[in-house]
Amino acid sequence: NRRVTVRDLGAAKERGERWPMLTAYDAMTASVFDETGIPVMLVGDSMGNCHLGYENTVPVTLDEMTMLTAAVVRGTKRALIVADLPFGTYQEGPVQALRSATRLIKEAGAGAVKLEGGERSAHQIELMVQSGIPVMAHVGLTPQSVHAMGYRVQGRGEEAAQQLLRDAKSVQDAGAFAVVLEAVPAELAAEVTRSLHVPTVGIGAGAETDAQVLVWTDMAGMTAGRVPSFVKQYARLRETLGEAAKSFAQDVISGDFPEARHSFS
Ligand code: KIV
Ligand code: NA
Repeated sequence: NRRVTVRDLGAAKERGERWPMLTAYDAMTASVFDETGIPVMLVGDSMGNCHLGYENTVPVTLDEMTMLTAAVVRGTKRALIVADLPFGTYQEGPVQALRSATRLIKEAGAGAVKLEGGERSAHQIELMVQSGIPVMAHVGLTPQSVHAMGYRVQGRGEEAAQQLLRDAKSVQDAGAFAVVLEAVPAELAAEVTRSLHVPTVGIGAGAETDAQVLVWTDMAGMTAGRVPSFVKQYARLRETLGEAAKSFAQDVISGDFPEARHSFS
């Protein structure tokens, strides 16, 4: 009855077992995924768009990440909880990264942290890992760089593919226990997966990565409007919830709710 550890995930790769990861931003949703047996949850900075109503992930603060990570930790018993380092909380250098990560581990109770960037983030990863903090890396499309790179497929063309391979190798060498590959051609993601001994976690990276991650609101059909083409929607939660709210509203207006059994005598 212990939580999943980063060693369990390394062992899964050796056995050739794939595993699922979902984002979570609150205790109640996280408890559903935990009871279902989702082994790893990411308190992603996608909370910016999916939970806090920002335009993108850039405005998310360390205070917000700390608060929501603590909620997800409280709502779960088994899953490994990975917290994203928000934009601006690690780019200044290894010491800033260590300070930010320490807060997410000590104060919020995360089991690991994640940050964006390949070679450019290797020194940060090294210091955090040396300090005893498990680190998940994230290469390919890195949404915190939206103002520089936009949202498009990465690693297309020989030169970009070689750079992506170097980025993945460099975060592994720095001590990352897993690497997210976002919006990368399937063949390149497969090559990265074969050439690393740590697990790869794909999102829009084809079927050959060791694990798959989706933003939970995309996965469950809660997100408004269009979702990326790499998303599969397993439910229509937005429609279901909207219908429930509409029925409640109609019952209040008509006087059908509450009934005697919902009232105290
Ligand atoms: O913030 C997030 O949800 C992520 C995943 C898409 C990997 O970083
Ligand atoms: Na993220």
